[in-house]
Amino acid sequence: MEKITIMEQLKRADEEHYAVPHFNYSDIWDMTAIVKAAEEMHSPVILAGVPKVTNALGMEVVGAAARAMAENARTPVYLHLDHSTDIQICKDACEENFSTVMIDGSKESLEKNIEMVKDVVEYAHPRGIFVEGEIGKIKGNTEESQYTEGDFLVQVKDAVQLVESTHADILAVGIGTAHGFYKGKPEINFQRLAEVNEALKLPLVLHGGTGIPEEDVRKAIRNGINKVNVGTIIKYTYLSSVQETLNRTGPTIHTIDLMFPAVEAIKEEVKRWIKVCMSDNKA
Ligand code: 13P
Repeated sequence: MEKITIMEQLKRADEEHYAVPHFNYSDIWDMTAIVKAAEEMHSPVILAGVPKVTNALGMEVVGAAARAMAENARTPVYLHLDHSTDIQICKDACEENFSTVMIDGSKESLEKNIEMVKDVVEYAHPRGIFVEGEIGKIKGNTEESQYTEGDFLVQVKDAVQLVESTHADILAVGIGTAHGFYKGKPEINFQRLAEVNEALKLPLVLHGGTGIPEEDVRKAIRNGINKVNVGTIIKYTYLSSVQETLNRTGPTIHTIDLMFPAVEAIKEEVKRWIKVCMSDNKA
């Protein structure tokens, strides 16, 4: 379908006080569920592949499948590469016409992070592709990030320096959220988020969506978040459904009959997140 760019989509979200939801997929089935949910809710949506998935299936295969779904969708669907620490993988995603690519240099020095983002921006921008960088650190221990130390909080001056020297388009900020399930309630530094938002006029991303209470996601949106990333709960919902069906039937059914209930379960979870992000009826 004819659609506005992801940057226009994020700007609209900023003006109208909601967030564009981003969901990580593992294969074509959860991809399908994410798109179906977005269509039913009339929400824009971001289909996000992590390098673990794009490497395993092949960037071209993933790109072709996601592109076909986006082209046929009745709602705006955007392709995103999530948390690549590898510049070449970002470039490969650009070749597959992703809308956005994320280069994550957050564990490196600020200088090295800047150098990495700059490199990807120089490749992506002439091709009409937008770049997400990260400053501060997202905590957690998943394929997206391994960081469990205390020094995660974004410094406003570092965020400004990264954006000004690289021309990154979108920024992920370390404000206390973590990838994976939380142990206890996440402690989010909303004050720092608001300060970064005040200093920079570009879309900010809340990573580590799974397990953040709805009221905190909404508060983050009020304080400058325009994109909310959700991953772990998608995988968990997918595999729980598969496990439940197999427990009931044994591995004697057609694979499709195993996947349909999983798609339905994921679709419900995605719809719930679309409501949390308030992006329903914003397509
Ligand atoms: P969760 O897996 O914690 O939902 O985080 C997803 C994410 O931030 C992907 O970038």
